[in-house]
Amino acid sequence: MSTQTFHRRDFGEPAPLTPKPMSESKSILSQLMLPNDANPMGNVHGGSIMKMVDIATAIAAMRHCGRQVVTVALDHMSFLEPVYIGDLVTITSQVEYVGRTSMLVRAEVQAENPASGRKVHTSSCVLTFVALGEDGRPVQVPPIQADTPEERQRMEAARQLYERVKKERALLIQTET
Ligand SMILES: CC(C)(COP(=O)(O)OP(=O)(O)OC[C@H]1O[C@@H](n2cnc3c(N)ncnc32)[C@H](O)[C@@H]1OP(=O)(O)O)[C@@H](O)C(=O)NCCC(=O)NCCS
Repeated sequence: MSTQTFHRRDFGEPAPLTPKPMSESKSILSQLMLPNDANPMGNVHGGSIMKMVDIATAIAAMRHCGRQVVTVALDHMSFLEPVYIGDLVTITSQVEYVGRTSMLVRAEVQAENPASGRKVHTSSCVLTFVALGEDGRPVQVPPIQADTPEERQRMEAARQLYERVKKERALLIQTET
């Protein structure tokens, strides 16, 4: 049986545990939607958008903590408008709240018709990531710093979601099999 070797990304020294500006984690990812992403009617699958969102938000989380990260929860996902083959999808994401080892990342998805230039806001999402150390266990992440009134508002909304999800998790997730 053959064994496959993966190259592990060298993250170097972890980010110091001093506050980092929210804006430093900002990530923008664009991709043209192709037939592989869609159903025969030309509508892009929700799962294709979710995969892109997972990657875009992971980049924002890694930028914040300078560590490898894993997705632990999809806290919110709305599909507000359809996306079609040929649309240019752009996902803008940033970390908006951090716990000890977890980070809440918000993403906004926009679809642009490259021919007409018409842009539509198609999804809003929040995902939670956890930073992992070399041993694969959760590690502390730097605090986040909100520098503008809008960022402070975003941070407070994300904090409320973090607290609510934590309570719901305690009620809903069964840990014994
Ligand atoms: C992420 C993981 C290592 C956490 O392990 P754990 O033993 O639950 O660790 P902890 O209990 O210390 O929790 C770590 C943090 O994750 C948060 N967390 C754990 N489960 C969570 C969930 N379902 N939703 C949201 N946050 C969660 C905790 O609140 C804690 O946050 P805090 O440090 O900010 O307070 C483990 O759950 C795991 O490996 N999950 C699979 C991840 C994965 O494979 N993702 C898909 C591919 S990337």
